[in-house]
Amino acid sequence: MSIQVSQISKQYGSQKALDQVSFEIGTGELVGFLGPNGAGKSTLMKIITGYLSSDHGTVRINNELVETENIAIRSQIGYLPENNPLYTDLYVREYLEMVAGFYRLENKKEQVLKMVELTGLKTEQHKKIKALSKGFRQRVGLAQALIHDPSVLILDEPTTGLDPNQLEEIRQLIRNISLNKTVMISTHIMQEVEAICTRVIIINKGKLVADGSINQLKAGQITRNQTILVEFDRTPDMEAFRKIPGIKNIERISNTSYLAESDNSMDLRPAIFKFAVQEKLILLTMKEQQQSLENLFQDLTK
Ligand SMILES: Nc1ncnc2c1ncn2[C@@H]1O[C@H](COP(=O)(O)OP(=O)(O)OP(=O)(O)O)[C@@H](O)[C@H]1O
Ligand SMILES: [Mg+2]
Repeated sequence: MSIQVSQISKQYGSQKALDQVSFEIGTGELVGFLGPNGAGKSTLMKIITGYLSSDHGTVRINNELVETENIAIRSQIGYLPENNPLYTDLYVREYLEMVAGFYRLENKKEQVLKMVELTGLKTEQHKKIKALSKGFRQRVGLAQALIHDPSVLILDEPTTGLDPNQLEEIRQLIRNISLNKTVMISTHIMQEVEAICTRVIIINKGKLVADGSINQLKAGQITRNQTILVEFDRTPDMEAFRKIPGIKNIERISNTSYLAESDNSMDLRPAIFKFAVQEKLILLTMKEQQQSLENLFQDLTK
């Protein structure tokens, strides 16, 4: 396992920012980390990278315990903090050389040039950071996170505020990077998660509320609610329909078609089939509905 988060809790004063959060991320995964404002994403990312200590629980990176005093572990982690803090008075290359110095890299100059190339900073490399546009600053942030060739990358909202072209380029960059690294990225953009991630972790009010592949999530396999589109040849006895075990809610679409929602992850289809046979209804359609990630996110974080 590249990242093992085990029972992490964190309190700020009387406020619980994280409550017993656990998950594991395997080598090479690209995981989207979602949650509403204030859910605890940045707090957890700081704890994973060793910048903040937790009150309870452990984090392991490549099977090694992350502690704020454990400096060695930092060489295995690349971190782009929220709001991408940079020394804006420094020139791009000067800044990257400074970061390379922090990691005591031997081939500093060479590594800086490699990063400039990789993150598309060639045209801007001789400018001061404060003279750069947001998208290029973001690239500098990515370059500093990558300069020591870490195996694990933690990116806190790397694409906030970028125009659609920059967005696509940075996403492509993250995709390329992730081919040989483990990447965790927090974002508020659902399409981004669908576009680049294979797995999603969602937290709400400091608690983990979903963890699974995008397909599993959309099929309702992770959360409780499976939704089935059902169409009969005539209007069913609604009272009996509602009594099918596991059905939480029925939404009427027409006199003969309905959306049936389950109250747990149980597959409703066998019970609906039995109901149709019992009631001598002909089942014209029975299809599991894919939920959109947006709806799911809203359901889970209301
Ligand atoms: N240094 C701090 N002192 C006190 N409270 C804090 C501190 N840092 C974060 N918090 C609180 O902890 C909670 C979680 O904050 P965090 O920044 O981790 O959320 P987030 O999920 O990253 O939100 P966003 O999407 O807005 O970036 C919030 O309620 C926040 O106010
Ligand atoms: Mg945050």
